Amino acid sequence: MILRFLGHSAFYLEGEALKILIDPFLTGNPLCPVKPEEFFTLTHILVTHAHNDHVGDTVMLAKRTGATIVCEAGLADYFEEQGLSVLSMNIGGRVGPFHMVTAVHGSTLQSNPTRDGGIACGFVVTIDGVKIYHAGDTALTMDMLLLKEEHIDIALLPVGGRYTMDWSDALKAVRFIEPSFFVPMHYNTSIHIGLDKKNMVAPRDIRTKILAPGETLEYRTK
Ligand code: NI
Ligand code: MN
Repeated sequence: MILRFLGHSAFYLEGEALKILIDPFLTGNPLCPVKPEEFFTLTHILVTHAHNDHVGDTVMLAKRTGATIVCEAGLADYFEEQGLSVLSMNIGGRVGPFHMVTAVHGSTLQSNPTRDGGIACGFVVTIDGVKIYHAGDTALTMDMLLLKEEHIDIALLPVGGRYTMDWSDALKAVRFIEPSFFVPMHYNTSIHIGLDKKNMVAPRDIRTKILAPGETLEYRTK
C-alpha cells in the first residue's frame, strides 16, 4: 500500500481495493501540494471530527467521486442530510477495514455551530494487511495503550501542541502504541502549531518518519 502526506492531518492511502482520503483539508491548507480536483476516484473519506481543518473538502470530494464518508454518528447525520453516502460508526466500532477509536478533543461543527458535530475520534485502518492508526486531533491518552495489541504498522500522530499533543507527548504515545514507526502530523500549518525541525528528535529506538508534504511512502507487510 502507499501513503501520501498532504500536509496538516490529511493523508491519502491506496491499496488494491481502497483509495482513501483522511481529513481532507486541502483547500486552505498552506502545506497541501495538491488540489481536490486532482482526486477522481476515491472509495472512502474518513473524517475524525467536525473542525474545518479536518472536514476540509469532504463534501465537495464526496459529491464528485461518490466516495463513502466514514465518520462518527453525530457528524454522519450532517453529511447524510446533504445526500452523501455515509458509513456511520461510533467509538469502538469495527466495520470492514475501519476501526473507530477514542480521541480526546472537541468536535464543534464550525461551519454550522448550532448543530451537532458529534464527537472526535481516531481510526485504525487495515489496508492490504497494513495497519495504520490516524489519531485525529487528540491529547495523549491511556487508551493508546490498548493499541499496542493491534500491532500498528504506521502511527500518524499530531505533534503541534496547543490543540493536540505536542512532540514530547507524541513520543509517550509511541511508547504506548509501539508501532513499526510513527509519522508526525498537525504541525507547521499555522503559527499556533509551529515546530522547529531541530526539536523533532526522538530516542534512537523510536522510529520516526518525517514526511514532507506531498511525500509518498510505500509499505508492505513483512
Ligand atoms: Ni480539531
Ligand atoms: Mn485540527
